[in-house]
Amino acid sequence: MGLANTAEIVDLLFSYMPKIAEERKMDGLLILMADLGRSLVGADRCSLWLIDENKKELWTKIAHGVDELRVPLRWGLVGHSISSGNTICVDDAYSDDRFDPSSDVKTCYKTKSVLTVPLKNSNGRVIGAFQAINKKEEPYHFLNHDIEYLNLTAVYSAKTLESALLTKELEETQAEILYMLGEVSEYRSKETSDHVIRVAATSYKLAKYFGLNEEEANQIRLAAPLHDLGKIGVPDSILQKTGAFTPEEYDLMKKHTVMGHHLLQNSSRPLLQMAADMAISHHEHWNGKGYPNGLAREQIPLASRICAVADVFDALSNSRCYKEAWPESKVQEFFLKQRGCQFQMELVDVLLAHWDDFMSDYREK
Ligand code: C2E
Ligand code: SIN
Ligand code: SIN
Ligand code: FE
Ligand code: FE
Repeated sequence: MGLANTAEIVDLLFSYMPKIAEERKMDGLLILMADLGRSLVGADRCSLWLIDENKKELWTKIAHGVDELRVPLRWGLVGHSISSGNTICVDDAYSDDRFDPSSDVKTCYKTKSVLTVPLKNSNGRVIGAFQAINKKEEPYHFLNHDIEYLNLTAVYSAKTLESALLTKELEETQAEILYMLGEVSEYRSKETSDHVIRVAATSYKLAKYFGLNEEEANQIRLAAPLHDLGKIGVPDSILQKTGAFTPEEYDLMKKHTVMGHHLLQNSSRPLLQMAADMAISHHEHWNGKGYPNGLAREQIPLASRICAVADVFDALSNSRCYKEAWPESKVQEFFLKQRGCQFQMELVDVLLAHWDDFMSDYREK
């Protein structure tokens, strides 16, 4: 049954995150994405195909087990997927006339099941395809959730390729990929994938109103989605518990801070270092009574102090599996009460002064 088991998925993602965080070159990142795609769908091989516009050919940028292949634009399943822009899922390639067995002859290989998803750039134009070949376990063909997984790796590979073309920081794409990995693992905890997006938006606004410049605020916006990354290491039974925690359960949950830090700490990239700091210290309190290290005041990195306000603002304003959403007035009272206790005074002042702007994303829903 491959990776239908969430514990296996989490283990797998855990093993990739540090590698992705450390990678410094685009090709290395694409190889990791192909490896991850292959593992996620349980395929024997995975390849990344790109369009060569000049020669009107397709070529394998990354391929497991074969040297670079070059084929005509409309060749085979991969060509059909690219020209139609559709996902193609075939249980037995030899009974599909779009498949061309000549590549098997060349590479001494026997293709059976094939899953091909097109790679689209941010304008929606098809720039290539991701192809997984031969599901290794029963039922020996690809399933719906495999399409989802391969699509995810395709989306982020396209972003990686695009970031190079746009000379956008590869680092930003890496942060997005890590965020995506966090999301995949959150099939378990649905509430939190919206949570991280809203915490990013709120952190950005707080940073701007607090007086940070655009670049600093943007760094915080990009790092913030990773603040709860460590929750992927927390068991489902705790994450999804509908009632209040026992002290033991709460202690385990608190470990998400150090686990997130552990996943991110080895990167030398400033953005991911900020994310590592945020992961470990977003539950510290201004008065020193938070966790895991009981840091106080400026000992807590500014980005984490900002994230802490955004995090609790979001947790209180929404319902959770363990609590109802609080009415606006009660949220406001809470922040006033914690001004200078749980949170830095100036940040609470900023939040209250621009309350309607911060609330606008929440009232709309
Ligand atoms: P979260 O739901 O995103 O909440 C983030 C933070 O918002 C909490 O950090 C806490 O500081 C604040 N917060 C949320 N709800 C309340 C509330 O009702 N009252 C007050 N005073 N503050 C609140 P905390 O406590 O360190 O919790 C971290 C994470 O642990 C939470 O993230 C949530 O995922 C989980 N959690 C905490 N308590 C419980 C619980 O009793 N049951 C369950 N199932 N999960 C819990
Ligand atoms: C195909 O896309 O038709 C098969 C590709 C391959 O065997 O590499
Ligand atoms: C305190 O710790 O004394 C107030 C802030 C909190 O709720 O932890
Ligand atoms: Fe947290
Ligand atoms: Fe959080």
